[in-house]
Amino acid sequence: MAARLELRDVGVRFGTFDAVDGVSLKVHAGEVVGLIGPNGAGKTVTFNVVTGLQPATRGAVLLDGVDVTRAPAHARTGMGLARTFQVVQLFAGMTVLENLMVAAHRFTSAGVVTDALRLPGRRRALAAARERASAVLAFLGLQHLSDVEVSSLPVGQARLVELARALCLKPKVLLLDEPASGLDPAETADFVALLAEVRATLGCAMLLVEHDMGVVMPLCDHLVVMNFGRVLASGRPADVRDDPEVKTAYLGTPA
Ligand SMILES: Nc1ncnc2c1ncn2[C@@H]1O[C@H](COP(=O)(O)OP(=O)(O)OP(=O)(O)O)[C@@H](O)[C@H]1O
Ligand SMILES: [Mg+2]
Repeated sequence: MAARLELRDVGVRFGTFDAVDGVSLKVHAGEVVGLIGPNGAGKTVTFNVVTGLQPATRGAVLLDGVDVTRAPAHARTGMGLARTFQVVQLFAGMTVLENLMVAAHRFTSAGVVTDALRLPGRRRALAAARERASAVLAFLGLQHLSDVEVSSLPVGQARLVELARALCLKPKVLLLDEPASGLDPAETADFVALLAEVRATLGCAMLLVEHDMGVVMPLCDHLVVMNFGRVLASGRPADVRDDPEVKTAYLGTPA
């Protein structure tokens, strides 16, 4: 069976600088793959290639075996790809529920024409979006935040809401860019438990960019370490963690 997500020899060049230089990886259904590496290693650029925000200079991105290298971001979302951002990006001025409904609406919308003409299908679609958004909030235990305006949320809660919004898209592949950054140790532990539950309940494949080994080690089935745009190591988390080259590059300590 084709991997849910596959990168084949992906490269991104900015001028004469190779930010990503020949990255290949696979994420299978139900699997959590961690993408780690020092600052500037190329993790976020790799992510952006997967989501379609950043065009690849070379290589290919496949979703369920379908080549989406040149597909726009929204088309990939429609194929089951959802993400969160390194810096939380919610729609300011809207409540938590409204933020989620924007995402959920993709699945329940009767189409732009129906929406624009305010046909009866529109009301049904909105009701369905509200239902989906509410169900996701309940699943994550966030119903009490439903009517809170998102700008007033502390970062820990904003991160949860961003995760909730991604889940409204019913993702087959969930991409998380440093989801625990800005969280305190207690919030981080809760977040890890929540992601484990998401994985167990929804079974979506995840690609997780994260610095915090306390997040990566308990969650990931497989780790890919990047350094200077390349894959330095790839394998089982414990093996990768104990690899001397990885220790030198990632942890900054001599092997
Ligand atoms: N649009 C751009 N133009 C030029 N260089 C860029 C651009 N975007 C990223 N870079 C460079 O590419 C390299 C990889 O950046 P990237 O953001 O992927 O790193 P990262 O691994 O996510 O690091 P961090 O852990 O700090 O988030 C960095 O040297 C960065 O400065
Ligand atoms: Mg980054």
